[in-house]
Amino acid sequence: MAEHKTLAVMRASPRKRGNTNWLTDIVVSELRAGGCDVIEFDLFDMTIKPCTACRWCQKDWNSVSCVQKDDMQPIFDAIMKSDTILLSTPIYSWYCTPPMKAMLDRLVYAMNMYYGDERGPSLWAGKRMCIVTTCGLRPEKGADLFLEGIRRYCKYSGLVFGDVLCERHLGYKTVFPDEETRAHAVEFAKKLI
Ligand SMILES: Cc1cc2nc3c(=O)[nH]c(=O)nc-3n(C[C@H](O)[C@H](O)[C@H](O)COP(=O)(O)O)c2cc1C
Repeated sequence: MAEHKTLAVMRASPRKRGNTNWLTDIVVSELRAGGCDVIEFDLFDMTIKPCTACRWCQKDWNSVSCVQKDDMQPIFDAIMKSDTILLSTPIYSWYCTPPMKAMLDRLVYAMNMYYGDERGPSLWAGKRMCIVTTCGLRPEKGADLFLEGIRRYCKYSGLVFGDVLCERHLGYKTVFPDEETRAHAVEFAKKLI
């Protein structure tokens, strides 16, 4: 029998019914149909402050928390109980959108005990990070820098850089997702399961 998977899905498109959310809806419904537990967050509805590099998070190697009181704690908790983190973002200026960048910064400090007096462990080592993204340019020119950034982020944090679904949006007057894009999303979800 297939292993039961828990996924934390981080949505970061400002357009609730935009391209990235459409694609992510297809992926999430396939994951749920396949028996996965999916914990979803919409980062545009949450308050995620920037990391201030205060290093308060480095004091205790047994807990994942931040001194800033905003909406990050449920994200830390969900990631700790998930085996896969799915980043869902449109490409804006060759990277993810601002709330996802703020989340990634908060995670890289709170999860990696690398910044205290002594170097400690990565508390999320071995988890898989996957990506759903859409962009206007050809993916190799539009999404390449974000994918490379996340590849390095994973290596640095001891995460597994997993599957990527990247689809091109050909303009606001086109249908998105078309049948081919929809099929890619279903195939992608099957690989995650
Ligand atoms: C502010 C802004 C910046 C963008 N920057 C890029 C970019 O750097 N590269 C790219 O390929 N597409 C870029 N795009 C196009 C979007 O990535 C594309 O339309 C995407 O499908 C939008 O997804 P959404 O409907 O979820 O918002 C940009 C769009 C906006 C609004």
